[in-house]
Amino acid sequence: MRNIFAIGLGLTMMVLAGCRGTTSDQPPIHLNLNMDFQEKFKAQSDNPLFKDGRSMRMPVENTVARGSHSATDTDRVVKTGKDASGGFVQNNPLTIDAALLKRGQERFHIYCAPCHSEIGDGKGVVSVYGQRSNGYTMPASVHQDRLRQERDGYLYDVVSNGINNMPGYAAQLPNTTDRWAIVAWVRVLQRSQYANESDVPAEEKAKIRK
Ligand code: HEC
Repeated sequence: MRNIFAIGLGLTMMVLAGCRGTTSDQPPIHLNLNMDFQEKFKAQSDNPLFKDGRSMRMPVENTVARGSHSATDTDRVVKTGKDASGGFVQNNPLTIDAALLKRGQERFHIYCAPCHSEIGDGKGVVSVYGQRSNGYTMPASVHQDRLRQERDGYLYDVVSNGINNMPGYAAQLPNTTDRWAIVAWVRVLQRSQYANESDVPAEEKAKIRK
């Protein structure tokens, strides 16, 4: 009985000693030789079949990847917020009307206000309950001078691709019109915080309490 126990202990020790977590250059033992072992050329490897010796082939000339097609300059501006030279466009390429602003307001309230607040001062509900002790970065206020002077294309880029600690919203807002509508609404918010008496229509002026 004692011997069996000793042998058992010995075997356990040997098994444990085998799991030391060391690395090896050898491929792992593979009992089932399935498609992992098919004949193939790996990415970036040599391939003598082709004249240029590469296994990865270049796309056929004039191929346009799905989703990156821009038929016209306007298409590109709408999609990226950038002009032909790659700089951000100054102005929103869409026609700004009441319907677009309404859409922008609604989308801003859904996608931006939790962090930036409904007036865009960066004091949304997330900033109240966020884990500040964990190095939480406060959402920016859109009313800072730098952002008031920024180009519309830049704001569109922030919404689409994010910036520093802010994630991009292109996935949640796949429709470019919605993103431009939000940019237009950010402009409304900025204007609203710096409005003065001359912005008030004459018939409303009488109603202002001094
Ligand atoms: C999850 C929280 C969160 C959401 C939602 C969010 N943002 Fe932000 N945003 C941030 C944070 C945090 C920063 C500051 C990023 C930094 O500088 O690290 C920021 C920065 C910005 C800036 C300033 C960029 C600059 O140049 O400094 C703008 C403009 C902005 N956000 C607009 C938006 C708009 C518009 C939306 C809605 C589509 C939105 N954000 C949604 C958290 C958020």
